[in-house]
Amino acid sequence: MLSSRALKNIEQLGRPWRFAPTPDYDPETNPKGLISFGFAENRPMRAEIVKFINEKVVFTLDSISYRSTTVLNARLPGVAAAHMSKALNSHTSIKPEDVFVADCPTSMGSMLGFNLAAPGEGILVNRPVYGRFELDYGIEAGVEIVYADTDTEVAFMPDIVEKYEQALADAKERGVIIRAVLLVNPHNPVGRCYPVKTLKHIARFCDRHKLHLISDEVYASCVFETGDPEAVPFTSILSLDLKNLIDPNLVHVLYGFSKDFASGGLRLGFLVTQNEQLRLACKMCSRFHSPSQAAVTIGIAILEDQPFVERFTAKTRESLAASYKMATSTLDRAGINYVKGGNAGFFIYVDLSPFLPDGDFIREQEFALAERFLDAGVFLHPGEEHGKDAGWFRLVFSQDESALKEGLRRLVLLLSVLKPATGS
Ligand SMILES: Cc1ncc(COP(=O)(O)O)c(C=O)c1O
Repeated sequence: MLSSRALKNIEQLGRPWRFAPTPDYDPETNPKGLISFGFAENRPMRAEIVKFINEKVVFTLDSISYRSTTVLNARLPGVAAAHMSKALNSHTSIKPEDVFVADCPTSMGSMLGFNLAAPGEGILVNRPVYGRFELDYGIEAGVEIVYADTDTEVAFMPDIVEKYEQALADAKERGVIIRAVLLVNPHNPVGRCYPVKTLKHIARFCDRHKLHLISDEVYASCVFETGDPEAVPFTSILSLDLKNLIDPNLVHVLYGFSKDFASGGLRLGFLVTQNEQLRLACKMCSRFHSPSQAAVTIGIAILEDQPFVERFTAKTRESLAASYKMATSTLDRAGINYVKGGNAGFFIYVDLSPFLPDGDFIREQEFALAERFLDAGVFLHPGEEHGKDAGWFRLVFSQDESALKEGLRRLVLLLSVLKPATGS
């Protein structure tokens, strides 16, 4: 017999489409293989990091030793703080002692859930949002993700705090205590950044209610030029003068290598917080959540080579801009609606509601549509972003050119067949 929490977790495995299928498309060796628009990975930029690692990184005995026996770990917070001060344009330089190193933002979500809330308590998030937070905060810590339903436009406006107020009151009524607001900036899946005014309103809201403010900024450098004068530039919560807005002890920022350095498999991430108690609590959990010394060796080498980081970031932005343009122009030509104004991250939030088959339940209709996509050789994750309206999917455009072209071709072809059939 297993524990009740283990059984509750296992139940989640039964949820349809919880996990994504593995793509196996290759233009040369498997041109009919599956192309996934589901994984938030910057696939074209991986080669640059691999080249850097193969040419520049030197492993030493420390790279495979227990972490408490090496000097490597003392170096990482300093170089990470210097890098993040620049990448996040922090109001004051980030101090090395405010940087907590962990294996990845996913695992830091679990640690934050564990250390900021008790089982059954909640973290407030507006939706649509990156769907895995339910797992990150829920599996080990047993914390509930409580959604404030928003339209995508409202989500970025200062008025969002009214939705948060409502969600807070609703949660209280059903006995759920909210401990934090979790923001994703730049936003996944909408691909936009939060305006300064909205950030300030949210910070004040958190301060008023004594809520922690977790700002997930893993896409901080993945902001690109689209030519749209309305596009909002990225502002980190740490670039604001937090005095008069919120107690700095309530503000915690997540950052890592998976997006800005296209290396999701490296498993290296950082929590920036001035809250010493929280850092100490995380330190106790770090037994289970530290990066490998191999990842630390690679991370230090990359961050210490700032000219490389600058070249890499510039190339990332160019590559994302080109893929975004290709994807949006294809969608425009095909008459497919999506959230405009994106300039960040790897995704376009696409409205495929006109193509939903008939049915009584939103999620089942989305599952049925996703099944049709799979048959056509493309994967879009149904229901994963927990949007309040049916039929919206996150399309990850940061693909190699051939995969992006072929994936979009398959998608548009299928939709052209489906559209008349639904009569919409
Ligand atoms: C907003 C956001 N936060 C956290 C993560 C998790 O990052 P990692 O895989 O590095 O743990 C992701 C991954 O897609 C993400 O999109």
